[in-house]
Amino acid sequence: MTDRYCVFGHPVAHSKSPAIHAAFAAQTGEAIDYTAIEAPLDDFAGAWRRFVTEGGRGANVTVPFKEEAFALSDTLSQRARRAGAVNTLILGGNGATYGDTTDGVGLVRDLMRHGVTLAGARVLVLGAGGAVRGVLEPLLAEAPASLRVANRTAAKAEALAADFRDLGEIDGGGFDAVTGPFDLVINGTSASLAGDLPPLPEDLFAEGATAHDMMYGAEPTVFLGWAAERGARTVDGLGMLVEQAAESFFQWRGKRPDTGPVLEALRASLSAQRLPPT
Ligand code: ATR
Repeated sequence: MTDRYCVFGHPVAHSKSPAIHAAFAAQTGEAIDYTAIEAPLDDFAGAWRRFVTEGGRGANVTVPFKEEAFALSDTLSQRARRAGAVNTLILGGNGATYGDTTDGVGLVRDLMRHGVTLAGARVLVLGAGGAVRGVLEPLLAEAPASLRVANRTAAKAEALAADFRDLGEIDGGGFDAVTGPFDLVINGTSASLAGDLPPLPEDLFAEGATAHDMMYGAEPTVFLGWAAERGARTVDGLGMLVEQAAESFFQWRGKRPDTGPVLEALRASLSAQRLPPT
């Protein structure tokens, strides 16, 4: 039987993960079957158990199940424990479920692919929700000079920074306390979804700075548009999506796909959505 994998989400119909993993499988010659499964909101654990009985060997987990995937894992990677969330489930030989998170390493790899140097950089991260918690450990592992977490609700950023202080130079506060310049600004808020821009000072970016948004779309997010107008180089979240998928694939199959061509194909199909119908 072909090894089965899937992405669990709710909703999940528009997930790009099946296309990404099909491309990785074709590229590496791995025979896998990867589908999207909409798990019921009240029974994620049951959906994972059923999938395993049907030949499931592993899964990606997206909104809103990452914390539940964390809770049901029998063992966890160090980075998943820190993140408090799991986006990659792996069925062990003994039937136990191992939980990992590849979001943070995906972000760091994408930044590196864009030539961003994290070591010694002044980094600002916007937001203090699950998405941001998931990337702080890999960011701090690159030894930035400083990492500032800024959030609409200042207390959440302060608490989050305190949780990671043993790993490096990190502090947190509200948007009003942000003073630039920064070499890298990462938007991990969900403000882009609503077309909102967090209130940020004009002098946010250092010379040659990069702005990264974890979100992506056919058009640049409001944050990336704002950043480009102020001279920053912009990177959206599509590369992070492909890189986190590649790391999950590696955890399951022991092979590292070449992400470049897969990202290019995804970018082309996203751009095509922008074209007027002919
Ligand atoms: P996720 O899992 O995507 O991180 P979350 O845990 O709900 O989702 O966190 C959403 C983040 O986006 C939070 O940091 C939130 O700020 P608050 O903690 O103050 O709620 C932030 N956010 C959402 N909408 C925003 C907006 N319009 N402007 C600024 N920040 C926003």
